[in-house]
Amino acid sequence: MYKCALILAAGQGKRIKSNIPKVLHKVCGKEMVNHVIDNMRNAGIEDVNVIIGKGAELVKDYTKDRKVFYSMQEDQLGTGHAVKCGKDFLQGKDGIVAVFAGDAPLTKIETINNLMEEHISKNNSVTLLSAYVKDPTGYGRIIRDGDEVLKIVEHKDCTEEELKVKEMNAAMYCFDIKELLVSLEELSNDNTQGEYYLTDVIGILKSKGKRVGAVVTDYEDTIGVNSRAQLAEAEEILRNRINNIHLDNGVTLIDPKTTYIGTDVQIGKDTIIYPNNIIEGKTIIGEGCTILQNSRIKDSIIEQGVEIQASIILDSKIGEKTTVGPFAYIRPDSVIGKSARIGDFVEIKKSIVGDNTKVSHLTYIGDAQVGSGCNFGCGTVVVNYDGKAKHKTIIGDNSFIGCNTNLISPVEVGNNSYIAAGSTITSKIEEGDLAIARAKQRNIKGWVNKKGLMK
Ligand code: UD1
Ligand code: CA
Repeated sequence: MYKCALILAAGQGKRIKSNIPKVLHKVCGKEMVNHVIDNMRNAGIEDVNVIIGKGAELVKDYTKDRKVFYSMQEDQLGTGHAVKCGKDFLQGKDGIVAVFAGDAPLTKIETINNLMEEHISKNNSVTLLSAYVKDPTGYGRIIRDGDEVLKIVEHKDCTEEELKVKEMNAAMYCFDIKELLVSLEELSNDNTQGEYYLTDVIGILKSKGKRVGAVVTDYEDTIGVNSRAQLAEAEEILRNRINNIHLDNGVTLIDPKTTYIGTDVQIGKDTIIYPNNIIEGKTIIGEGCTILQNSRIKDSIIEQGVEIQASIILDSKIGEKTTVGPFAYIRPDSVIGKSARIGDFVEIKKSIVGDNTKVSHLTYIGDAQVGSGCNFGCGTVVVNYDGKAKHKTIIGDNSFIGCNTNLISPVEVGNNSYIAAGSTITSKIEEGDLAIARAKQRNIKGWVNKKGLMK
């Protein structure tokens, strides 16, 4: 059976009070609309069409890696109208379409699969997802006659009786494509909000004697984010889910409540994560690592047995058994070797640092290629910027860089060479040489006394 998906993401989201479209707000580090796209793909749906409108260019930009189609909804006249704007995408297709709201990121893959299986096995025209909730304020209500679903009524259009219904509409449906296209033509906007509601399609299909089904799931699956409070609620639910997966996989989280791990992060077993860590993007952490308190790691590869403390690591790679921090800042495109040491107040930018090299304190390394087995004294600065352009520094293996050295780029330091502390290096040092580049010391006898400064 052919399957495709429509994701509704054209609204601004007034209730979230934001300058950017609601669906671009992040939950556990990923935009809500991208969660929904990924959920569809994980449920085996390849063809995904996103309905865009408010902030269309931004939404396109944020979803561009995911290879989806787009339809434009110029004016946001309601969810039914939004689906109608996807007509070109649906026309001529034969099969089922999953229609999901772009502001509901938490649906489990098994729930989406259940919805589609129920739809296909019961030969339904539409199958909707619902949940029972203590306080359904704001949600559409599922109106049933016994077991049968009759229609959905939006909160603002409910009678006193209908308001008492606790079964809410998740705004996640599976439709027969042809039946949906026909019914969309019959929608009207004769309701409290003057909008074309997608929810009315359910009643339309029912009144035509078509098969309408429902799958009930738990509320957490269905949460739609309309406000900042619901955004925080969604964040907490997903955070717990993600953390539980890592706990199940053999990762120790000392305090899951203060551990923030993105949806797509992978962590090996026996890694221990201390409180207040943020691990984001496509980060992969190996086995047996220790991530001590207060680090942020984004889109990075951390090999096994690494120890990181109170540091920031962005788009970089850290080799096995290396230690980082406290208070190190490793900026994008850096590759640190194995059993290396990047110590306190060290900043590394777009540089390669070899195995066993020690950069223990107060050092800046930018646009450099550093060999293995080197030792950096405290306070070394790679002077990579001349006010106009960035230049490259190359340092060979087993070099010793004395404390407070300046390496004026572009410059080259050979293998097995030494630099005396306090040197400002401007020209190449050959292998095996010592460079000293500082003024000779001069002592002036009795100067303090002569100046009357002796205490
Ligand atoms: C919708 C459902 C409601 C359900 C709730 C679940 C309708 C009429 N109501 O209400 O039954 O309980 O979701 O969360 O469908 N959108 C467009 N174009 C539009 C309007 C909306 O693309 O013209 C998009 C929005 O960007 C959003 C999604 O559709 O991602 C849902 O819209 P929203 O206004 O949040 O609907 P709800 O009021 O939450
Ligand atoms: Ca909503």
